[in-house]
Formats: sequence, structure tokens, C-alpha cells
Amino acid sequence: MDRPFKAIKVTDNVYWVGAIDWGIRDFHGYLTERGTTYNAFLVMADKITLIDTVKPPFLSELLARISSVVDPKEIDYVVSNHAEMDHSGSLVDVIDVVQPEKVFASSMGSKALKEHFHLDREIVAVKNGESLSLGNLSLTFLETRMLHWPDNMFSYLPEEKLLFSQDAFGMHLATSERFADEIDESILEYEGEKYYANILLPFSALVTKLLDKVGELGIEIDIIACDHGPIWRKDLDKIIGWYSKWAQQKPTNKAVVVFDTMWFSTAKMAEAIAEGLLAGGAQPKIMPLKSSHRSNVATEILEAGAVVVGSPTLNNNMYPTVADLLVYLKGLKPKNLVGAAFGSYGWSGEAVGQVRGMLEEMKIDLVDEGLRIKFVPDGDSLSKCFDLGLRVAEKIKALCESA
Ligand code: FEO
Repeated sequence: MDRPFKAIKVTDNVYWVGAIDWGIRDFHGYLTERGTTYNAFLVMADKITLIDTVKPPFLSELLARISSVVDPKEIDYVVSNHAEMDHSGSLVDVIDVVQPEKVFASSMGSKALKEHFHLDREIVAVKNGESLSLGNLSLTFLETRMLHWPDNMFSYLPEEKLLFSQDAFGMHLATSERFADEIDESILEYEGEKYYANILLPFSALVTKLLDKVGELGIEIDIIACDHGPIWRKDLDKIIGWYSKWAQQKPTNKAVVVFDTMWFSTAKMAEAIAEGLLAGGAQPKIMPLKSSHRSNVATEILEAGAVVVGSPTLNNNMYPTVADLLVYLKGLKPKNLVGAAFGSYGWSGEAVGQVRGMLEEMKIDLVDEGLRIKFVPDGDSLSKCFDLGLRVAEKIKALCESA
């Protein structure tokens, strides 16, 4: 028996033919606790068209699902909406099996695919707004540069009011269900938010522009078929509304207190700071880095008003886990945050200054120079920590009022 994977019908003419990756837990540094999917779609038009492919280990799953509908050799066109390897990684093998008449990508996508795979065949570069006839159906292409690579584009099937949105509106979520309306909303919101915080956050201004642009174009969308996680066929306002909210990065009174510790002194400081935050009316969320993944910290920060970062000094430097977090966060460019640095030290105590420097580079509005405590905090030191929490809480209030 061939691999018994089946396509799932999305509309009369469109099938999901992707792959489910139940086991993945690291997606370029992002903890994918619930796995993911690599969605690909088969459009059964006069010109049979495959939209996107899958990560290389899942090629046979893709081909088996296609084969449950049509012989893959019958496919006429392949459209690559995004060159990142989780969607294009099996493109060369797909081309080899299918021998399509044409392969399409955006102009940047055409270049990127050639640079990835050193292809000697033509990748037809489509223009923004261009339409492609599939005979009885058609596709219109909309470039979405830097959401989140230069090559990204949407493909729109007007006859079905269906938007193939590649990474946008997706989430890393492996499920047996293929549609969002079959899945618990709290899971969708959390995984959608985590995906936004860890993939799309640096491009939030472009997300807002894109949402406006789609509104202005008056494109009617009944279905959003994204490249990861469930397909949206109902309540589209939900995912679009969440994107609009996340893109604004409006501060709240949540304060993320994130730290690592050697001998529990920085941990004690974190707890006292959190008590001060609470007393000042903020909502602290303590995230020890020994048990908090960097991508979960980024997710919490998306809807926070403050980030307070603690590190002991180890060999004249900040703790390696704290450095890891700050480098990761810096790349995500979070906005509208106040913050502070803190930590215990033994003799040289460089870590707090280094953390402060990184937070300043991230344009986080700091309450002060940072709080350093030698060795183990005593009652006075813990009072200073509590006071730091109070001052951060005051600054969050001011930030929220001005936002
Ligand atoms: Fe799912 Fe940017 O790739």
C-alpha cells in the first residue's frame, strides 16, 4: 500500500495537500510546543495548480495527498508564494516528479529560488497585481514584501474568494483538524500570538499597511488558506482583528520580569521587584530563564508594558541565557515598553550595565541605571528591589496613559 495520506477538500476546486509535522519543537530558535503543518494547496482548475510545497522530509506525504486527487504528473503550474525552505524545500523534487509547464513566484521569489536551488529552469516572475488565467479559474498575485522575507506574496483565487496567504495569519499548530472553526479559540489565539510575536513582530508597520491595503482593494475574502496551522473559513474577523491588535503593540500593565540566577540572589531580587510591581498596580509575570524559552518570553512581551531583565555577573559578563534572550528580543524589535535591569554580583558586576546597554539599544525606556546588589540581598537590598518594582509600575501607568 502506498502511504495512505488523503487530500482534504477546502472548496469545490481547492484541496489541502500539505503535511503535518507533529514532532518539531525547534523552528529556527522558536519553541514549537504543538508542532506545525506545512500547508500546500491543489487548485483543480483547467490548469491544475499546486500552491507551495513542503519541507523536504515531507515530500512523500505531499505527493501521496496529491495522488489521492490527481496524478501529480497532471499538474500544470506550481506557484511558490514564499522561498523559505519550509515551503520551497521540496520544490526541486516536485518539479522533477511533476514536470510542470510553468513555475511562478514573485520577482524577488524567482531570484531567491534560483539562489537557493541553483535552478537552470525558468521561474516566471509575476508582477504585483498581475492575474494568471487557469482556464476556468484565475489567480491574482499580491506582493507582501518583508512579510517576512523580501519574496513573500499572496495568491488570490477570486472565483472562490480564497486568499492563499503563505506565512501571514498562520501559526505553528499540528492538529488533526484542518479548519480553525474546529479548534478551541484559546489555543488559536495563543498560538497565533506566539507566531506573530516570534515571526512577524519586526514588520508590524507593514502588517498594518497590508491590512489597510487589502481593505482599500475591496478584495472579498471568504477563506484564508495560510501555510501553517488551520485554514480560516469562518469568523475571519477574529484572526484579522488579532493581527490588527498585535501590530499596534499597545502597552498594558503587564510587566515581564525575566532573569537567570547562579545562587538564587538574582532570583530573590526578581521576586521582590515583582512584589513592588504588584503593589504599584502592575501585573508581574515572572519568567525564570531556566524554565522559560526565549520564544515564550517574546510572546508574553507582545502584550506587556514593561520588561525587567535580571542577570548575575559570570566571568565579567552577563549570564549566557540572558545574552541569548536579549539578542533574540533585539531582532524582534518590540515597541512601547518601559523597563529596568537588575542583578547580583560578587566583585566586578558588569552584567547589569551590559543588560542596560542592550535594553537601551532596543529603545526600551528605562527607569534608572539598573540595580546591582553584592552577593546575597539583605532586607535593605530587597527594599530597593521592591522600590524598583514600584517605580516601574508608575512608569507603565504613564506609558499606558500616553499610548
Ligand atoms: Fe513558513 Fe517564512 O516560512
